[in-house]
Amino acid sequence: MEGHFSCCGIILPKQEAESTDEVHSIWVETIDDEYSITMQHPMNKEHYISFIAYVTSDSVEIMKLYPEQDISSRFRKKGHGFLYAYCNRHGLFRKNI
Ligand SMILES: [Fe+2]
Repeated sequence: MEGHFSCCGIILPKQEAESTDEVHSIWVETIDDEYSITMQHPMNKEHYISFIAYVTSDSVEIMKLYPEQDISSRFRKKGHGFLYAYCNRHGLFRKNI
C-alpha cells in the first residue's frame, strides 16, 4: 500500500506532522546559545507529550518526556531546523525554528 509503512505485519498509517495549534503550541526562548522549549499541554497518564525533537539538516536531538513531568527542554542552537512534539492522543506537531 503506497504511502503506508508496515511493521510486524501491521499496516501503519502515514504519520505527517501538523502545524502547532493552540493546545499544542511550542514556546521557544533563546537563552545564550540554547533554545529553551516549553509547552502548556496536559501531562497526565491519558494525555501527554511523549517527546520533543530538534531536527536540523544534519542532526536530531530527542528529549523523552513522561506523564506528570513538566514540559521543559533545552537544546543547544544549531541553526535553522524544526521542533517536533508528539502528543499520544493527537499525533505529531511541528514548528519552524
Ligand atoms: Fe494533545
